[in-house]
Amino acid sequence: MGLHILGTGSYMPEKILTNDDYKEFIETNDEWIRTRTGISSRHIATGEPTWYMGAQAARSAIEAAGIDPADISLVIDTSVTHDYATPSTSCIIQRETGAVNAACFDLNAACAGFVYAMDMAHRFLKTEETAKYALVVANEQLSKITNYEDRSSCILFGDGSAAAVVEYDANALYSSHLGADGTGAKHLFAKHTEYNSPFAEESKLKKKWHDFEEDLQGRFAHCMKQDGKEVYRFATQAMPKAAKAAAEKIGLALSSLDKIIPHQANIRIIETAMKNMKLSMEKAVVNIKNHGNTSSASIPIALDEAVRSGEIKRGDKICLVGFGAGLTYAAAILEY
Ligand code: UT7
Repeated sequence: MGLHILGTGSYMPEKILTNDDYKEFIETNDEWIRTRTGISSRHIATGEPTWYMGAQAARSAIEAAGIDPADISLVIDTSVTHDYATPSTSCIIQRETGAVNAACFDLNAACAGFVYAMDMAHRFLKTEETAKYALVVANEQLSKITNYEDRSSCILFGDGSAAAVVEYDANALYSSHLGADGTGAKHLFAKHTEYNSPFAEESKLKKKWHDFEEDLQGRFAHCMKQDGKEVYRFATQAMPKAAKAAAEKIGLALSSLDKIIPHQANIRIIETAMKNMKLSMEKAVVNIKNHGNTSSASIPIALDEAVRSGEIKRGDKICLVGFGAGLTYAAAILEY
C-alpha cells in the first residue's frame, strides 16, 4: 500500500534577506523576528521565474533517484505563485526535465500542497498499472505576493523549491489524512489577477462576494492578507489532528515515528504541535531559521536537507505534516 521516495532535490535563489535587512523599510528588529518566529533569514528570488526554481529542484531529485525521466508517469506541481494561469507549471517542468511520458497537472492546497500532491501521486501510482514513477515538485515565490509594508506578515515569507521522485511499493508503509476548513478562508488569502472581461458589470464587480473581500488598493493589492493569530491557533490543532488521524488508520503510535517534517511556518507553532502530539522536539526536522515560510516548498525543502545531511536515513518512519490557506491540513506517513 506504500510509497517509496527514490530521490529528493531542492533549489533556493541566491539572494538572502536577513532580519536586519527589513529595518530599511519597516519598523522591526532581529530579536522580535527570531523570538516570535524562529526565522533569521530567507532566500528571495530576484527575477527568475517560479518554474525555473521548480525545474532546478526537479532535475536534482531525478539525479538523486538515478532514474530515466522518460519513465516518469506523472508530474504534479504545487504552488500558490505560478508564473502562468496556463499552461500549468507541471507541463513546463515536463519540458525542462524530459519527463516526456508523464501526465501533468498543478495542485493548489497552499502550504499543505506538497503533502496533498504526494498523496495524489500515491493514489495514481497505486491504480495506474503501467505507471512507474511520479515527480512531485513544489515551487514558491512568496515574495511576489508579500506585502512588504505589513510588518506582521512580510517577515515570515521566503522563496524556494524542492522535489521528490516516488514509486509505489505494495509492501511499504503508507497512510495519509487530508482535510480542509473552508470557513477559515478569510484568515489567509491573496487575490488572483485583475478581472478584465469586457462583459463585466459594474454592480457585480463592486459586490462583496465573500466575508473576506476587501477593497485592497495599490501596489500590494494582490498580496497575502492574514490574521496571524487565527492561523496560529488553527495550525497548532490541525497538524496534530492530521498526523494522529493518519497514524490511527494503520494502528501506528505517533511515538514510533523517527521524524516529523512539519510545515515551517513558525518555530512556536512547531513546538506547540509537537507538544500536542506528545513528541520531543528532537523528532522534528526544523530548518525555518534559514528559510522562513516557503509555503508548499517548506516541507520538501526540509525533507531534502534532512536526507542530504543524514538526519533522515533509509528505513526511518517519517510523517510529513502541514497546514495552510484554505484552510487546509494534511499528513502523510511513510518509510524513507
Ligand atoms: O503558512 C501559514 C502562514 N501563516 C502563519 O503561519 C502565521 C501564524 N501566525 C504567526 O506566526 C504569528 O501570529 C505572527 C508571527 C504572525 C505574529 O506573532 P504574534 O505573537 O501573534 O504577534 P502579534 O501579532 O500579537 O503582535 C505582537 C506585537 C504587536 O505590537 P503591540 O500591538 O503589542 O504593540 C505588533 O504590532 O508585535 C508587533 N509586531 C512587530 N514588532 C516588530 C508585529 N510584527 C512585528 C515585527 N517587528 N515584524
